[in-house]
Amino acid sequence: MMAADPILRLRGISKNFGAVQALADIELDIHPGEVVALVGDNGAGKSTLVKILAGVFQPSAGTIEFQGKPVNLSSPGDALAMGIATVFQDLALCENLDVVANLFLGHELNPWALDEVTMEVRAWTLLRELAARIPSVRLPIASLSGGQRQTVAIARSLLLDPKIIMLDEPTAALGVAQTAEVLNLIERVKARGLGVIVISHNMEDVRAVADRIVVLRLGRNNGIFTADTSHQDLVAAITGAADNSVTRRARAKEAADVQP
Ligand SMILES: Nc1ncnc2c1ncn2[C@@H]1O[C@H](COP(=O)(O)OP(=O)(O)OP(=O)(O)O)[C@@H](O)[C@H]1O
Ligand SMILES: [Mg+2]
Repeated sequence: MMAADPILRLRGISKNFGAVQALADIELDIHPGEVVALVGDNGAGKSTLVKILAGVFQPSAGTIEFQGKPVNLSSPGDALAMGIATVFQDLALCENLDVVANLFLGHELNPWALDEVTMEVRAWTLLRELAARIPSVRLPIASLSGGQRQTVAIARSLLLDPKIIMLDEPTAALGVAQTAEVLNLIERVKARGLGVIVISHNMEDVRAVADRIVVLRLGRNNGIFTADTSHQDLVAAITGAADNSVTRRARAKEAADVQP
């Protein structure tokens, strides 16, 4: 496969929940070493799209190609085995267990189940590669900051060696310094050649980290933008201000009203 080929290619993806059309005709390519931000208002369909790629929901229509082949992501296990990892907003970490235990949680059942020393070494190696700011892998999760928890959750996904990682609102609960830490981590993950999909409501974060910004509105793709797109243009695409004639007329009236 050439480096320029997409890892993941979505064609005409739609999803209905009864009468509600959550997604309509979504087209999207994700390339290796690319960060794609998924933005949109509440109910735009972001989580639904991520859940389809995570194997939680089945699309009502459309095709998903993974490394050039059509695939069926019929369960979360399927998606993971394929190389699509997801860090959901609820990180699902065990508060009272330490970092190593959390990293390998659920992996104990794998044929490559490891002993304690090997797990600790692997944990350190991975966290060092990611330049993670975690002072000890023997600290319980309960003692970590929000940014450090996000780091552990992302590192845990990377242990499965995925090709794609999806992050749902990774900076939502974080302050400035911890947000910077997580954005740095995303850069590292990207540098490893993964395709990264990030859901975020924070346009500053999105513009800092994304190669492409995909706007969903009412379940449809309402534009694909680059990181240098202005805040206003992004917000207009998200809210539909750009294509709403009522808003346009209101603006024209406002402009006329301020004329001397
Ligand atoms: N399991 C479900 N059953 C019925 N309708 C659903 C279900 N999940 C999502 N929806 C509907 O699909 C649409 C898209 O929802 P989705 O959660 O994907 O939006 P979102 O972009 O993630 O929003 P938010 O920013 O609030 O998380 C909404 O109208 C929502 O009510
Ligand atoms: Mg959501």
